[in-house]
Amino acid sequence: MTVDFSEVQGLIRTYRRVTSRHLIFRFGTGAGARTFLGELAQQITMADEDPNTAPDPLLNVGVTCNGLHALEADPAMVGEFDAVFKLGPPAVKMALGDVPGSRSDPANWWEGQFATDDVHCVVHLFAQSDGAAWDAVQAVRQLAGSAGLTELIPRRDGTILSGRWFAVRKMHFGYTDGISQPNVCWDDDAPRSPEQIDFRNFLLGYSTDKYPSAPARGAAADFARNSTYGLFRWIYQDVAAFNQFLAVQGPQLFPDLPAIEAEELLAAKMMGRWRDGTPLALAPDRPDPQLSGSNDFDYATGDPDGRRCPFSAHIRIVNPRDTPLDPIVVEGIPRLLRRGMPYGAPLQGVTDDGADRGLVGMFLCADLRKVVYSLMSWVMRNDFSPVYNGNRRVQDPLFGNRSMPGSRAEFTIPGVGSEATVKSLPDFVHTKGTAFLLYPAKAALVALSQGTR
Ligand code: HEM
Repeated sequence: MTVDFSEVQGLIRTYRRVTSRHLIFRFGTGAGARTFLGELAQQITMADEDPNTAPDPLLNVGVTCNGLHALEADPAMVGEFDAVFKLGPPAVKMALGDVPGSRSDPANWWEGQFATDDVHCVVHLFAQSDGAAWDAVQAVRQLAGSAGLTELIPRRDGTILSGRWFAVRKMHFGYTDGISQPNVCWDDDAPRSPEQIDFRNFLLGYSTDKYPSAPARGAAADFARNSTYGLFRWIYQDVAAFNQFLAVQGPQLFPDLPAIEAEELLAAKMMGRWRDGTPLALAPDRPDPQLSGSNDFDYATGDPDGRRCPFSAHIRIVNPRDTPLDPIVVEGIPRLLRRGMPYGAPLQGVTDDGADRGLVGMFLCADLRKVVYSLMSWVMRNDFSPVYNGNRRVQDPLFGNRSMPGSRAEFTIPGVGSEATVKSLPDFVHTKGTAFLLYPAKAALVALSQGTR
C-alpha cells in the first residue's frame, strides 16, 4: 500500500513560506458552502506538489464537524467520525487545559467576537510575502462572499490571524523549532527503519487494531480516506513574564553560574533543548552547535533520573520516547505533525508592550481523541509514567495552565545529589481559540462539494 499524495492535502509536508493567513468562516446555505468548497478545491495545495517550488499561495482548508453538517453531509456518516472531533473544543476544555474561569476559558476565545460553534471552516494561506498573502486573502474573501459565507474576524481590532517567522525557525521565548518531526513511512512495501512511523498515525481511512482511527470502516472510512485531522490552536505567549521568570529564578537556582548562563540553563531545563536546539539529553552543560539539529536521543538509558533533561521538560512530555509509560497508557505515545508558525512581533526584556504574540498552532494526526486525552492532558498533568511517582501533579513548566484542578504549579529539576524545585510557576501562555478540523482528501472534497456524501 502506497499513499497517493495527489489525494492528501499538502500540509503533511513542511512548508517554508515566511508568512501565513488563517481565514475563519461560517457557511451560509448548504448549496453556497458546497459551491465554495468546490471552487476552492481546485486551488488547494496537495502533497504531490513540491511546496518549495509551488507558486504563492499554498492553500489548505479544514472543515469542522459543524461545517460538515452545514455542508449537509450525511449525518449517519458524520456520526462515525472521531468522538472528540464531533464534540468540539469547548466540550473537551478540561482535557485541553482550557479551564473555565482561567484566561484560557473557551468563553473568552476569539476575543469574544464569535462562538467556537460558529466556526465551519478555516482556510490557511502560506506565502513568501505580505503582498502575495494579501492578494490571496482577497481572492478567498471574494469567493466566500459570493457563496454566502460569513467571515469570522477573531480580533476586536478587526485583524485576522497571521503567522510570521521573525527569525529562522525561532519561536517566541527564543527557542528553535522544527527539529523533531516524525519520520513517516508512507509506503507499506518499502523497507522501513525502526524509527519510522506508520502513515496511519496521520491519515484516515486505514484504521487497524494497531493504528485505530475513526471512521474505522465501511463507506464513512472510504469517504475519509487520505484525510487528516487537525488541532488548530491560537496560543498567546507572555514573553515579558517568561523573561522576568528566567531573570529572577535562574540565578537563584544556579547561583554558581553567571546570571545570563543561569537563565539559559533554566530555559533549557524547561524545554529539554537549549535555545539553539541542542538536546539536553546529549549536552547537559552547554549548547553544542554540532548537536543543535539532533533528534537522535532517548531518555531511559542515558538519563533515567532526569538529571540531564527534567522529566517535566516540554519535549520529554510531548514525546517521552523510551520513557516507561504507565500500564494504563495502552495506546502509546500520540504522534503529531506540527505545522505552526509564530505570530506577532518579538519582544525583548521584561516589560510587556500589550501586543498580541504567540503561536498559530497546527497539529495534524489521525486520532484527535488520543491527542487531546493523552498528550494535552499530559501537558496539564504529568501523570503518565512511573518517573513522576514523586509528584504526579506537576505540569509542563512552559505550557501548563496553572488553574488546572489537581495540578501543582511546580517544576522539579533533578541534579547530582540534589533536587531543585520551582514553586508557583506563573502562566506563560493562554489559549485564545481552538478548532478541530478535518482536512479532507481530494475525493472527499469532491464528494462534499457535489453533495454526494
Ligand atoms: C506556544 C506553544 C508551544 C511552543 C512555543 C512550542 C515549542 C516547541 C519547541 C521549541 C520544540 C522543540 C523543537 C523540536 O523538537 O522540533 C517543541 C517540540 C514539540 N512540541 Fe511544542 N510548543 C508549543 C506547544 C505544544 C503543544 C500544545 C503540543 C502538543 C499538542 C506540542 C507538541 C510538541 C511535540 C510533539 C514536539 C516534539 C518533541 C520531540 O519529538 O522531541 N507543543 N515545541
